[in-house]
Amino acid sequence: MTYTVTITPENIAFDVENGQTILEAALNNNIRFPNRCQVGACAACLCRLLTGRVKYHLEPMLTEAEKAQGWVFACQAVVESDLKISLSE
Ligand code: FES
Repeated sequence: MTYTVTITPENIAFDVENGQTILEAALNNNIRFPNRCQVGACAACLCRLLTGRVKYHLEPMLTEAEKAQGWVFACQAVVESDLKISLSE
């Protein structure tokens, strides 16, 4: 199963294979996606999920308010549907 992630408002789209994180898929597609540690510690990859579903193997350290605002750790978030995300606040 392949999903499509679209970064808005830039309208950059890339494919994600089943089981990949947002960050893995972005880097595989040569998308310049902010990242540093790739293990859920530095928050460089934080982005906002506008539509779609992700799941985590390990829940990242986000407050309830941050979760409600849609913040996700791209390096940890496994894609489960087509997504729209934003890198800006
Ligand atoms: S790259 Fe460091 S938390 Fe995702």
